Amino acid sequence: MTPKEEIEILRKTLEQHNYNYYVLNQPTISDFDFDQMMNKLQDLEYFYPQFADPNSPTQRVGSDLSQSFKTVAHKYPMLSLANTYNEGDVRDFYERVRQGLEGEDFEICCEMKYDGLSISLTYVDGVLTQAVTRGDGVQGDDVTANVRTIKSIPLKLRENTGYPQEFEIRGEILMPWTSFESLNAEREKNGEPLFANPRNAASGTLKSQKSELVASRKLDAYLYYLLGDNIPTDGYHFQNLLEARKWGFKISEGMRLCRSVDEILDFIEYWDKERKNLPVATDGIVLKVNSLRQQRHLGYTAKSPRWAIAYKFKAERACTRLNMVSYQVGRTGAITPVANMDPVQLSGTQVRRASLHNADIIEELDLHIGDMVYVEKGGEIIPKVVGVDKSQRTAEMPKVRFITTCPECGAPLVRYEGEAAHYCPNDTACPPQIKGRIEHFISRTAMNIDSLGPETVDDFFKRGLIHDVADLYKLTAADISNNNKNRSVSSLKIVNAIKNSVNVPFERVVFAIGIRFVGATTAKVLARHFKSMDRLMSANLEELINVDGVGNIIADSIVTYFKNLRNVEIIQRLKEAGVRMNVSEDEEKGNTDILAGKSIVISGVFAKHSRDEYKEMIEKNGGKNVSSISKKTSFILGGESMGPTKLEKASTLGIKIIDENEFLKMIGDT
Ligand code: IVH
Repeated sequence: MTPKEEIEILRKTLEQHNYNYYVLNQPTISDFDFDQMMNKLQDLEYFYPQFADPNSPTQRVGSDLSQSFKTVAHKYPMLSLANTYNEGDVRDFYERVRQGLEGEDFEICCEMKYDGLSISLTYVDGVLTQAVTRGDGVQGDDVTANVRTIKSIPLKLRENTGYPQEFEIRGEILMPWTSFESLNAEREKNGEPLFANPRNAASGTLKSQKSELVASRKLDAYLYYLLGDNIPTDGYHFQNLLEARKWGFKISEGMRLCRSVDEILDFIEYWDKERKNLPVATDGIVLKVNSLRQQRHLGYTAKSPRWAIAYKFKAERACTRLNMVSYQVGRTGAITPVANMDPVQLSGTQVRRASLHNADIIEELDLHIGDMVYVEKGGEIIPKVVGVDKSQRTAEMPKVRFITTCPECGAPLVRYEGEAAHYCPNDTACPPQIKGRIEHFISRTAMNIDSLGPETVDDFFKRGLIHDVADLYKLTAADISNNNKNRSVSSLKIVNAIKNSVNVPFERVVFAIGIRFVGATTAKVLARHFKSMDRLMSANLEELINVDGVGNIIADSIVTYFKNLRNVEIIQRLKEAGVRMNVSEDEEKGNTDILAGKSIVISGVFAKHSRDEYKEMIEKNGGKNVSSISKKTSFILGGESMGPTKLEKASTLGIKIIDENEFLKMIGDT
C-alpha cells in the first residue's frame, strides 16, 4: 500500500468512527484504538505534507491564531419562530393551519427545541464550505474555522448517500451539560466568572477568536432544517431530516409525526419530563407542518413562518422549606440576601440556596422562616424563590427582617436613592470589599495578573500580606512562599506576573482601580479624554459630565472616589510601583477627534474591513458606535445588504448613509 492509500483509508475509517461516536452515539472501537489510529494518520500527514487536506479528521484541533469574524449575508434570511406557552395556543395553531390548508390532510412534525445558538452550514459537493451565525437574521458572523472543530458536524459528507450538490442545513450548536459543568468547575477554580447556562457558554465559546479553545470546549450540534434550490420540493421535512442523518448529520432522536392535536399534546407532555435525561438543554417543542408544499402554501409573516411554532416549556419549579436567610457582601458592598433551604432536586441539580435579590422582594413575598417556598430555575444558574405556600405557615414562624448592619464588618447599612440593594458603606475596611477590589484589579480585563486567583488573594489577605491593590507590587517571592520550597516556583511566577502588569494600557488601569459605575467602556472613554490620572483626578463635576457617555451618576462617583484620601494614596503607591498613569505615545498615535460627538450606526456587509474593525476605528477617532437608528444618529456606515427596516428608518429620519470608502476617507485612512 502506498502512503497515499494508507492516508486515505485511515481518514475514511476515522470519519466513520467519528460518525458512530458523535452522531449515532454508538462507538464501535475503544478510545485507545481511535487515538492510535489518529496518531498514525498525524504521523503520515507530517511526513507526506503533499497529501494534506483541510478536511482530514486530524484538522479538528483548531488554531491559536486570532481571527476576527467576517460578516456575511444569509442567502435565505434566518427567521425565528412565534412562541406559545399553553395548550390553548397549540390548539389555535393547529386550527390556523387546518384553515390555511383548506381542509387538506396534513401532518405536524414535532421535535425538540434545542436551547443553544443557531447556525447555518453550507455544503458544496459534500464539503462544509461555510458556517454562519444567525446574527440579526439577515447577516451573521462567519465562524467556519470554529465550527470545523465540532466533532458532530461533518467536514465531509458520507459518500454515495445522495446529498444534493449544494445546500444549507441549519441547526443548533450546544454545550452538553457535562461539558458545561466541568467548564464552570474549572472556571470557578481559576476565579473566572461562571457561565449562567450552557447557551451562554456555547455562544461565548463559538465567538472565541481562537478555534483551539473552541476545540477544547466539546460543543455538539443538532441539525433541524434543510434549505436549498435543489432540495426535493415535493418532499417532506421529517423524511428529509432522516435522509440528512444518512449523509452524516446529527439529527434528533426525539421527532414524531402527529396527525391530531392530542398526539401533539402527548408528545409535549412526554418530553417535558423526559428532557431531563437528554445530554443537552432544551426549552420547548417545535411544531412544523411536514409537507414542504404545504409549508410554501402557508407562507410567512414578516418575522416567522406560518407553518411552524415553538411551544415553550414552563420553568421547572420545586417546593422546599426555608431554614434561614444569610447575607452576602459583594465587591461593591452590595448586600445579597440568600435563602438557605432543605435540599431539593431541580432541573437536574440539587438546590439548597436561592437568591432573594433584595429587601423589597423579601417584603413582597412576605417571607417567614420555616415557610414552604417555591423555587424556580430561570435562565440563570442561581435559582430564585418565586413564591410561598402560605397554607403551610404556622403562627410561630418569625417574619424575615432584613439586616441593618454589615454581617462582615458591622457597619450600618445604607440604601442609595433609586437603588434596590442595601450597601455596606465601609469600603476601605470591610474584608469582602477589599478582597473583591483586589480580585477586580487582577482580573483579565483589568490588570490581567492571571497567576493570581480568588483563593490566593484570600490567602494573602488572611496572612496579612496585602491590604489593598498597591500592596501587590511590594510582594516578594519569599513573602509568598514563606520559605516553603514547594511554593518557590509558583511564587516567582506570581511576582513576575505582577511586575509585568505595570505595562497594561492606561485605560485598563482606570478600569482596574474600581471606581463605582466605571466599567471597561467608560474607563476607555475617560482615559482617552483626560489622557492621565492626574488630569482625571483633578477634573470637576462639570468637566466630567461634558465627556460623552459620562452622566451625573458616574461623574459624581468619580469625584467621590478621588475625594477619598485613601484612594489617592493607593494611586500614588501604584504610580511609584511603575503602573502606567497616562496614555502612551503609541496609544495616542491612532487616536483622533475627527468623529467627536458623532453617533454612528454600522449596518450591512463590508468588503474592506470587518464590522468589529469599523467599530474600533469609530472609537479611535472619538466617535460612538450605537446599535439602533434614532434621531440622534449622525450617520450610518452602510455596507451591502442593509436590512429593509434599517433603510426605511434611515430615510424617514433623513439620516445619511455613507459607504466604507467615504468613511475611510473621512478618517484619513487611505
Ligand atoms: S426551525 C423557520 N427547529 O429556535 C424556522 N428551530 O425562534 C427555522 N430552534 O432561531 C427554525 N430548536 O435557533 C427550528 N427543532 C428546531 C429548533 C429551532 C431550536 C431555535 C432556532 C431558532 C429559534 C426559533
